[in-house]
Amino acid sequence: MDPAKPHSLMLLGKQLVLWRDGEQQWRCFEDSCPHRKVPLSEGRVEQGGLQCGYHGWIFGSDGRPTHIPQLHSVDTKAEQTACASGRSCAAAYPVQVQQGLIWVWGEHGSTAFLESLQRQPAINPLKAKTEPDKFTQTYVNYIRDLPGGFQEWVENMTDQSHVAFAHHGVAGNRHGPDAGYFKSHSVEERPRPEDGFKFVFDWSANSKSVNKNTTFEFIPPVYNGFTVAGGVFSLWIYAVPVSATCTRLIINAGGNFPKPPPQKLTLTNPAALLKKVDPRPLLLQLVKRISGRWGPHLQLNAVNDGDIVFMHQQSKTNRLAGRKADYNRHYFTPGDSDRGVMAWRRWLTQKAGGGPVYPDTPAVDPFRDSLGKLHRRELLDRHHQHTQHCAACSKALQQVRAAQKALAGLCVAAFLGLVAFLGSRGCPLLSLGPVSCVATFAAAAAALLSLRRLESQFVYTDWVNAEK
Ligand code: FES
Ligand SMILES: [Fe+2]
Repeated sequence: MDPAKPHSLMLLGKQLVLWRDGEQQWRCFEDSCPHRKVPLSEGRVEQGGLQCGYHGWIFGSDGRPTHIPQLHSVDTKAEQTACASGRSCAAAYPVQVQQGLIWVWGEHGSTAFLESLQRQPAINPLKAKTEPDKFTQTYVNYIRDLPGGFQEWVENMTDQSHVAFAHHGVAGNRHGPDAGYFKSHSVEERPRPEDGFKFVFDWSANSKSVNKNTTFEFIPPVYNGFTVAGGVFSLWIYAVPVSATCTRLIINAGGNFPKPPPQKLTLTNPAALLKKVDPRPLLLQLVKRISGRWGPHLQLNAVNDGDIVFMHQQSKTNRLAGRKADYNRHYFTPGDSDRGVMAWRRWLTQKAGGGPVYPDTPAVDPFRDSLGKLHRRELLDRHHQHTQHCAACSKALQQVRAAQKALAGLCVAAFLGLVAFLGSRGCPLLSLGPVSCVATFAAAAAALLSLRRLESQFVYTDWVNAEK
């Protein structure tokens, strides 16, 4: 995020503004100027404060105005009185920065600041362990704003039995021997609400499979951690409740891969040396090197696409059931595979009052028209949900579009060249000139089609289960 500008954001349905002050500290205010309620995010960072773009009031780090131009120029005493009034203050929310993420406390006011000082958000525990001598840290980071409620997206993570079906061909195989196999056990529901819950799951019937004993842990407000047995390659997903109909997933996948102890290369036993080299970080780095940072993002886009329509509709149905719904009756969950789902629902109803309350719950479905037809283009809109906010993907998209223009130009040039050759007398069809024009045209057209397909991966690709 550009620290020179204010940024608007939504959290729990509240419109907020993030900005960085003169002390290089990120601050968060309600995105509403106390003067006449216009968005502060449309202002600018000025004199180390946040200036409202409408009449130029400047607010300091604590939300108190430090400058009111209309009073300053005529009556500085009146300006001081107005600045001291509680009514002139922007509502300030506590902020922490951890692992490169800005964490905003869900309430404002002095009590909120005191409470927030006593809590740190649960973060990726492996990433915090930086021991460069012992580990190579390799992570893929990804963020996407997805249609669907927070409750449903977290629930989706507690249930990996959907992967073979909903992500067939991308992250699962519905024809595979383990399709649908998901055994959850060792559920630990902790007494204190703030400690969340965890459970262990296996997603292979094969006792020798590596897909055994993955631990899932939810720690409120947003932490969802998957620790694969041995704790090396893992996945953290922060599910951020943006609004009643939107959840931001911040995904952090990878791990701390142990470095092999320094060895002397011996020609007598190279196989033993190779055995000590962990290929996983090398593979991850190779994938990143080949496809750039955007390659894994396209893969994660495809994974999320498989869930979106389900999450959207399920959220709507669950919202209508109400925050106090009894999920033992609302859902029918006869198997072991849903034990994590029900632990999550119990945590929500027994420890979290049914989940977040949003001021903006929509009366109508924003993704359906009046006849009930689903707007798939908006629902699965990768460009607005991810690409435009991602430096790597937006740059790659620009390059893909520029390359398409160049290839289209090459096609036209090759075609015109062919016409010129054929128009000139005495030029046989199978001579070097016409043949190279045809070959150039064919190669450029094929590359153009491939880039068209690649472009759609950044913008919009429909996901239709019936075609998979
Ligand atoms: S509305 Fe913000 S300064 Fe007037
Ligand atoms: Fe991206």
